[in-house]
Amino acid sequence: MFADTKKILMKAQQGKYAVAHFNVNNMEIIQGVVAAAQKLKAPIILATSEGALRYAGMDYLHAIAKTAAENSHLPIALHLDHGKDINIIKKAIQKGYSSVMIDASHEDFEKNIRLTKKIVALAHKKGISVEAELGTIGGAEDLVSSRSIIYTDPAKAKEFVERTGCDFLAIAIGTSHGAYKFAGKASLRQDILSKIKSKVKTPLVLHGASGVPPGLVKTAEKYGADLSGVKGVPDSQIKVAIKNGITKINTDTDIRIAFDAAVRKALHHQPKDFDPRHILAPARDLIQEVAEQRIRLFGSAGRGKK
Ligand code: G3H
Ligand code: 13P
Ligand code: ZN
Repeated sequence: MFADTKKILMKAQQGKYAVAHFNVNNMEIIQGVVAAAQKLKAPIILATSEGALRYAGMDYLHAIAKTAAENSHLPIALHLDHGKDINIIKKAIQKGYSSVMIDASHEDFEKNIRLTKKIVALAHKKGISVEAELGTIGGAEDLVSSRSIIYTDPAKAKEFVERTGCDFLAIAIGTSHGAYKFAGKASLRQDILSKIKSKVKTPLVLHGASGVPPGLVKTAEKYGADLSGVKGVPDSQIKVAIKNGITKINTDTDIRIAFDAAVRKALHHQPKDFDPRHILAPARDLIQEVAEQRIRLFGSAGRGKK
């Protein structure tokens, strides 16, 4: 069955590495990232956003993730990403997710605490752990968006964790969702992260962490994508963030670009071939490659003993 997200993260915190959270929307993505975990013997977290559930349905994604986790013999957790709708959060708890995120970061401090506490009570009754968010991560994807970045206040983070009892905390230190993270130089507020870390013992989560690798972007653009102006978080900043105390790192955009680049390439080279398997298998392979690079970067390769 699924692994306990909190246990995976507590172990990572002790070992000073980060666990990869990969957003998944279909079978090929799940197979690609799990194949990477298997090759590198790494623990991973499969995450479904509300948008993913709207697209594929919770029953389908849960069933595919369960099959992948059981066949892998690795600690693989299933997580609800950016839960905003209480009914979806309750459904995920009911369904047997390992963990849920309550994202009330757009609310004021007191309301965020109230909502988070409510979900913590519901989830803990079933032994499920809870990620919450304080501060706002910028950028926009399907159902997750925020216009601006509001850095997490370290003192407030301490109070938030104490009052809510959340199990891990997403913080805002300058990253944003999607492929357009920085207009100019890529910079993160590592100083804020260090301050939060000195006050909070709860594992810390970095959203909007995709690297948007130039090689991938080049391939996608070679076959017709227009990705001008994209910029991700440099690997060097990720390494410093892990050293400064980040334990869970979310990646969605890199997986999306890998999918896009591989599908475009396959269609370009096989104009007479309309077999979906010949179009999607290369996407699955490239996703595996990208996931392996992320796992290696996070230092979690070889950490997948149950
Ligand atoms: O953090 C957001 C995730 O990348 C999910 O985005 O709402 O487009 O599925 P989505
Ligand atoms: P990216 O858009 O940088 O991949 O971030 C994904 C994320 O934070 C999902 O919660
Ligand atoms: Zn996110």
